[in-house]
Amino acid sequence: MSGKRRTAILISGRGSNMAALLDAAAGQPAYPADIALVLSNRPGAAGLARAEAAGIPTQVIDHKAHAGRAEFDAALDAALEAAGIELVVLAGFMRLLTPGFTEKWLGRMVNIHPSLLPSFKGVHVHEQALAAGVRFSGCTVHFVTADMDAGPIIGQAVVPVHPGDTPDDLAARTLAAEHRLYPAAVALVATGGARLEAGRTVYDGDGWDTVTLT
Ligand code: GRF
Repeated sequence: MSGKRRTAILISGRGSNMAALLDAAAGQPAYPADIALVLSNRPGAAGLARAEAAGIPTQVIDHKAHAGRAEFDAALDAALEAAGIELVVLAGFMRLLTPGFTEKWLGRMVNIHPSLLPSFKGVHVHEQALAAGVRFSGCTVHFVTADMDAGPIIGQAVVPVHPGDTPDDLAARTLAAEHRLYPAAVALVATGGARLEAGRTVYDGDGWDTVTLT
């Protein structure tokens, strides 16, 4: 691959991972993802203001204005196509996507989840981890498939669990790791140095090491 991948970041809320990606793209001239669009399904998402302040085009597609998931995903797909998007980055995007949409963007859409998948999918992730009594947790970047939080893993970062941690403590420690992992993983996918082949992630060179953070 050559040139920068035109990339959309999809958010629903505060957008701290989005901000980490914008900072990486702005701070590294050779960063291989060109953040061309930030799109939210919630009109009031705090991340929108942060993106606007950075001069990134933003768009809202309110899921409440659509009859169902298929209609919403069709509008999303149309917006991504209209913007010439090549890579879709989910960053706290709180919508389940239809199989038709995930199939179309397979290998070109990634997500970050605040656990070491396949443990602790879904919501209340840090509560799940603390209830299980694990000593280490972390975060995972993966290709998006139709099954929630189950696509092929691209990268992971590990964080310790401390005695007496609250879910908020673990969330904050994990989030700091997310902000290191996601820009590295998106860069690797944008260059093609990590890609989906026959349902597995394959890497060029030392790519695996750059997204395996302990
Ligand atoms: C992150 O913990 C991410 O892993 C999860 O949702 C949260 C989004 O946070 N998918 P932010 O909006 O990026 O701050």
